[in-house]
Amino acid sequence: MFVMIGACRLELLQGDITRQQVDAIVNAANSELAGGGGVDGAIHRAGGPTLMSETSAKFPQGCPTGSAVPTTAGNLPAKFVFHTVGPIWRGGQEGEPDLLRSAFKTCLELAVEHQCESVAFPAISTGVYGYPKDLAAETALQTIHEFLQTTQQPKLVRMVLFDGGTYGAFARVLESMLA
Ligand code: APR
Repeated sequence: MFVMIGACRLELLQGDITRQQVDAIVNAANSELAGGGGVDGAIHRAGGPTLMSETSAKFPQGCPTGSAVPTTAGNLPAKFVFHTVGPIWRGGQEGEPDLLRSAFKTCLELAVEHQCESVAFPAISTGVYGYPKDLAAETALQTIHEFLQTTQQPKLVRMVLFDGGTYGAFARVLESMLA
């Protein structure tokens, strides 16, 4: 499903983010930028070793939670990968929503800065980091919606949801935002 926000399109798709033909792909990394499983493992496998050599060389201190750093995309069909770090869910009282909002916003700002017309996001924090999918969907979609309304860039933001349950959670939230 998709919605138009002015001239920008916000869409939900069930699939694999490493297959997306977009200018930038967002990675759900850890603050050491050490690689991992989940979407991080998939992006590094598909992108090849360039991604890790670039993060090690340019960002040896890693990346704080709620922030993001850019690299090129190696063998992926994209120009950039934005490595962001979502919060670990600790019950919701430890600033998790603000940190998740900041992760999405920083990536959208990087997309504008790098003149990306299209960017694909995974459901940051909803895997190993344990963020409840419905709450993550609310924060993610509200943040993207607000950003597109204000900035009118990038022209396409695609949330790529790996499984049906996550797609369903995001679709319900997007529907309720339109109601
Ligand atoms: N495409 C799109 N989404 C994917 C893919 C893929 N190829 N593989 C997994 N996902 C989904 C998961 O189903 C989940 O909904 O990405 C979402 C985020 O899950 P994780 O990858 O576990 O990311 P996160 O919860 O943010 O945890 C980050 O996990 O892999 C490590 O190094 C990473 O330590 C960091 C932590």
